[in-house]
Amino acid sequence: MTRVLMVCLGNICRSPLAEGILKSKLTGEGYFIDSAGTGRYHIGGLPDARSIAVAQKHGIDITDQRCRQFKKADFDRYDYIYVMDNSNRRDVLSLAETEAHHQKVRMILNELFPNENVDVPDPYYNDNGFEQVFQMLDQACEVIAKKI
Ligand code: 4NP
Repeated sequence: MTRVLMVCLGNICRSPLAEGILKSKLTGEGYFIDSAGTGRYHIGGLPDARSIAVAQKHGIDITDQRCRQFKKADFDRYDYIYVMDNSNRRDVLSLAETEAHHQKVRMILNELFPNENVDVPDPYYNDNGFEQVFQMLDQACEVIAKKI
């Protein structure tokens, strides 16, 4: 079983999209894909309505997802922990206790632009940003799906 965790700040905009997109590309058995946020603003809530809408537009239903917070135990439960931006990476790594934990954490857009540490922009305050974020995550997840 290959386990992948997508992480952003709120777990309502970017990481729910990344979770839904990667799931849509990995239809076989043997994968467990989840998402979490470093913050605790929206715990228990649905993804943002704008993320639900852009996913829907591309034929992906993410309404089964509920927001949860990233926790230390996730380092041992997941093989790959993909963060959306540099701030998420700092927050996640602040909880890492071992070199093995550090090694699991990756910037998701490094799959497209290796070692460049490019952020997926936070679309929370930008109604028009969701389609662009969807496209970035779709391309990155295409690479991830082929290699895991
Ligand atoms: P996300 O976007 O990290 O992509 O889920 C955000 C959602 C909510 C907040 C910040 C970012 N917030 O501050 O409530």
